[in-house]
Amino acid sequence: MGNVFVLDHPLIQHKITHIRKTETGTKDFRELVDEVAGLMAYEITRDLPVTEVTIDTPVTTMQSNVLSGKRIGIVPILRAGLGMVEGVLRHIPTAKVGHVGLYRDPETLQPVEYYIKMPNDIEERELIVVDPMLATGGSAKDAIDSLKKRGATKIKLMCLIAAPEGIDLIKKEHPDVDLYLAAIDEKLNEKGYIVPGLGDAGDRLYGTK
Ligand code: URA
Repeated sequence: MGNVFVLDHPLIQHKITHIRKTETGTKDFRELVDEVAGLMAYEITRDLPVTEVTIDTPVTTMQSNVLSGKRIGIVPILRAGLGMVEGVLRHIPTAKVGHVGLYRDPETLQPVEYYIKMPNDIEERELIVVDPMLATGGSAKDAIDSLKKRGATKIKLMCLIAAPEGIDLIKKEHPDVDLYLAAIDEKLNEKGYIVPGLGDAGDRLYGTK
């Protein structure tokens, strides 16, 4: 069963507070999202396997741990997920990056993938799907559906802020997916924004309106 982890480290909470503020401009917003994603990557990789190797220090020989080569993929959901990629890559520089962009066809209500490009060994990688806002959860659910259809079996979802509605949907539709969050907010409003939230993450990252 997938678990929900709220990463309430003081550094993360401090930065999330500044991210939320209306007066935080595009440059600072982008830097803060990047920093929080990096800090969250630290927690999300806590269970990576390590293996012992023998090394020489200037003083002696010793056994010490290195990552045992587990392959990671980072998958931003376009477009706002892009803002979290570099922060994660800083800690896992050998990760491959897949991209997924979807929308719901207004007539059929079926998800349409307008862009998808994944590493070709997706089934062997542990995937970290990133998107700053988990609102209804629809995009994340559809993105994870697409990844599983292509053979992915180990998926984690990392978001900055979630609404209870989004958490419930992911737990119901993808109970095997662990969810990592910096904050759980109160609700969605009638326009689908998370309350209190931070507004439109994509617009705030890229200075659009
Ligand atoms: N997407 C956003 O960027 N913000 C919200 O509040 C909800 C969805």
